[in-house]
Amino acid sequence: MDVIIVENAAAVAEHAAARIAARIAEKPNAVLGVATGSSPLGTYEALATRVTAGELDCSAVSAFALDEYVGLPLTHPESYHEVIRTTVTEPLGIDAARVHVPDGGAVDLEAAGADYERRIRDAGGVDLQLLGIGANGHIGFNEPCSSFASRTRVKTLAPQTRADNARFFDGIDDVPLHCITQGLGTILDARELLLVAQGEAKADAVAAMVEGPLASICPASALQLHAQATVIIDRSAASKLRLIDYYEHVQRNKPAVRVAAGV
Ligand code: GLP
Repeated sequence: MDVIIVENAAAVAEHAAARIAARIAEKPNAVLGVATGSSPLGTYEALATRVTAGELDCSAVSAFALDEYVGLPLTHPESYHEVIRTTVTEPLGIDAARVHVPDGGAVDLEAAGADYERRIRDAGGVDLQLLGIGANGHIGFNEPCSSFASRTRVKTLAPQTRADNARFFDGIDDVPLHCITQGLGTILDARELLLVAQGEAKADAVAAMVEGPLASICPASALQLHAQATVIIDRSAASKLRLIDYYEHVQRNKPAVRVAAGV
């Protein structure tokens, strides 16, 4: 896992956006995996700035969201359909027909999960998956003890996740109990993973993900199984890493080929 430690949240966003923009420049019809939550918002804003400046064209990009609440109307401001539309699809100028979010309103949620897996396959798979991390180590909505082999399916949200997300609703009772989320196996199929995290509240989860045992109690530890996983974090989120000096040493001494590529 490549661990990149930067000064602050703005630098996390800038670094992640540069990486994603480079991938889209290489492959204009790239398939992006997009995350919700507050962590990637700065990255989306930094990408949107490039789009507005004419430096980046996302019109041929496809996008797949990680997850969706079950039972929220699509037009609810906190439905991930709506969040992705307002924070990703519109600001980045992606064709809405090529943006996919799991169907949390489906009568048959199992079939909706299978259909989502099919759609990802039909698009040729995800080239780059952007991820945040929950304070309990979840990615997507794969709560602790999710199977590393899991595919898109219904999950029950952990009380901590509902409490964390209550800030987006009128209160915790308004946060749905269930969600439909790409599985850890689905996420691991992406060709490249890029996880962003900022702030002290994520420090324990980040340490467990990067340096802890590979264990489903920390679902994000699944990134240890991926050959192209990069974690971009600020100093606060990095504060509980034991090998912080080593990661910074590695950053300062990147092999020439990667330095030349600039990413
Ligand atoms: C949310 C999302 C995740 C996100 C995580 C962290 O509920 N389902 O994709 O990474 O929880 O959220 P935040 O970035 O707001 O801390």
